[in-house]
Amino acid sequence: MEATPIAPTHLGIIMDGNGRWAQKRALPRTAGHLEGLKALKRVIKEASVLGIGFVTFYVFSTENWKRSKQEVSYLMHLLVAKLHGELGFYNKQGIRILVCGDLDGLPKDVQEVIESTVKATENNTNITCILAINYGGQNEICRAVNRCLAEGPQKNLTENDIRSHLDLPHVPPVDMIVRSANERRLSNFLLWDSAYAELGFYEKFWPDWKAEDVRTICKDYSQRVRKFGGVE
Ligand code: FPP
Repeated sequence: MEATPIAPTHLGIIMDGNGRWAQKRALPRTAGHLEGLKALKRVIKEASVLGIGFVTFYVFSTENWKRSKQEVSYLMHLLVAKLHGELGFYNKQGIRILVCGDLDGLPKDVQEVIESTVKATENNTNITCILAINYGGQNEICRAVNRCLAEGPQKNLTENDIRSHLDLPHVPPVDMIVRSANERRLSNFLLWDSAYAELGFYEKFWPDWKAEDVRTICKDYSQRVRKFGGVE
């Protein structure tokens, strides 16, 4: 009998290929993002079943502002409409929502919906879904350093000082980062905590991801030998 795969405690996902998924169907890129949201729901649901504690999704990077005005406003609209509109889904599935990123740089209505969704799901305990919005790993590290410095003069900042001033210091470091659409880069995602994360790159476009893809990831993760710089 096959052994049950060990689920990572914290999985990070770079959702890529929404645009290409839409292009292949002669649809606007925005249709790919809408379909991508459906994939996110399938994935978080299965992650919860498999006992993954935290999943961080790269929703909007600090670099994504370079996209067309129309695409950026669609993504902001999706956040406002669906974070609120899907509250029933999150609560039914016991999903707690947290957010990381430079939230001050987001439109007011997006900030408000984030705040109310985090509050409305704070007692859910099945799984934590972290949305990285206006997120960049370098930006997060800079903000963490500035928070340390704002606390008073420091002699030497340690790794622990910086880790404890990241956006979500109580969330355990990411164990595995996966990316869809066969791209093999981190693109500024979770830079501090990716130091010892396992990496996985998968071919399918993000909107095509299903529950079985989360099972594949757990299987792949189970086969990795993590040494954290030590020896076995
Ligand atoms: C990357 O694909 C995808 C994004 C930048 C956006 C991801 C956002 C969602 C799935 C919506 C999430 C919404 C909520 C409410 C949580 P791409 O557009 O870069 O694809 P491409 O490389 O094929 O162009």
